[in-house]
Amino acid sequence: MYREYSAEQLNELKSELLAQYEAYKAKNLKLDMSRGKPAPEQLNLSIEMLTHCLDGDYKSENGIDCRNYGVLDGIPEAKELMRPLLGVAEDEIIVGGNSSLQLMYDTIARAMLLGVYGGEKPWCKSNKVKFLCPAPGYDRHFAICESIGIEMITVPYLEDGPDMDMVEKLVAEDDEIKGIWCVPMYSNPTGISYSDTVVKRFANLKPKAKDFRIFWDNAYCVHHLTDTPDKILNILEECKKAGNPHMVLMFTSTSKISFPGGGLACIGASAENIKFIDSQMTYQTIGYDKLNQLRHAKFFKNFDGITAHMLKHKEIIAPKFNIVLDMLNKEIAPHGIAKWHNPNGGYFVSFTGMDGTAKRIVALCKEAGVVLTGAGATYPYGKDPHDSNIRIAPTFPTCDELQTAMEIFCVSAKLASVEKLLEK
Ligand SMILES: Cc1ncc(COP(=O)(O)O)c(C=O)c1O
Repeated sequence: MYREYSAEQLNELKSELLAQYEAYKAKNLKLDMSRGKPAPEQLNLSIEMLTHCLDGDYKSENGIDCRNYGVLDGIPEAKELMRPLLGVAEDEIIVGGNSSLQLMYDTIARAMLLGVYGGEKPWCKSNKVKFLCPAPGYDRHFAICESIGIEMITVPYLEDGPDMDMVEKLVAEDDEIKGIWCVPMYSNPTGISYSDTVVKRFANLKPKAKDFRIFWDNAYCVHHLTDTPDKILNILEECKKAGNPHMVLMFTSTSKISFPGGGLACIGASAENIKFIDSQMTYQTIGYDKLNQLRHAKFFKNFDGITAHMLKHKEIIAPKFNIVLDMLNKEIAPHGIAKWHNPNGGYFVSFTGMDGTAKRIVALCKEAGVVLTGAGATYPYGKDPHDSNIRIAPTFPTCDELQTAMEIFCVSAKLASVEKLLEK
């Protein structure tokens, strides 16, 4: 345990670590682990979709020519394919373009400008608009709020989801709180899945703002890394049981199933919400890319097809997660300088080091040629109050690159921790 070392021992250790670090630096490496992107081999799993999936047949099952205009909410077979991901009925889904993030942005932009189903006025007519942001969370959720001028309130994560005591209290007393970001399964970056209790507490919220919405971004709903995957409750069903059927808007996409550059995204919600969104969205587009919808439906066929496909992803990426976790267990755990969670799925390992070390670790890694997600990015306004959290994204590099990157990461983490202890 580094904390038990004397100043002399720490200084000695610092010299050793510096020597190791300089040796890595001399290799002039260039490794990018900044974003959770699928590796090329993962993208190759779906390549048939681009080569001979349509084979000159451009008609959807109800006879629509997918090359032409029309069908705002998605062709029937694309809805059928995506419905089980969110656990919704036929009239509770819109299949859009390639990006769920765009659907989320647009949903918030429309809520600001025009309001949500059942709302009395557009959100922007409130004195202020605020969102609850469980953190560490997905940087781009927070970036949407920041870019639109929505005030963010940080909510801490507990073992099984956001701190629900705080969420319940805040939404009940402040009608300027219009939404909350949730990544309920294999959360980005913590890897946590929400417990049944947390999901039920969400469904039973009693927000003061009648136009409050839960943004349920289920981006990693089929992205399992083990044979004993996490399971979460269906939030829409729970909301219906609780008499709050319109409070949740769900999102997902095939970005990390097929292609991030050309997948399918969808929104799931109560039929009333969906009808209302359709009525607003009709001014944004005549219809999304139906050829891509048709390609996906033909390639995957059904939910079983997606499940089988995700096993192939798992075979490629689970070994990469193991490299990260093995390195952390071997190099960091004995020294008591950090914590992390072994995720059962998703795309990240969330590393929480000693307070005041995250920026330094990221900077040290960068100087040695390893680019990580910026420290602080996982918190609203890019400000980690403890400067301790770093998101590790293992999927994109090759196993060899990842091994080297993790060696550099571990030396950097140890060095930054020793420096911090010496400060004290
Ligand atoms: C939680 C979460 N939501 C959404 C996205 C982006 O999804 P899409 O590619 O569908 O826009 C990501 C990508 O990293 C993510 O981690």
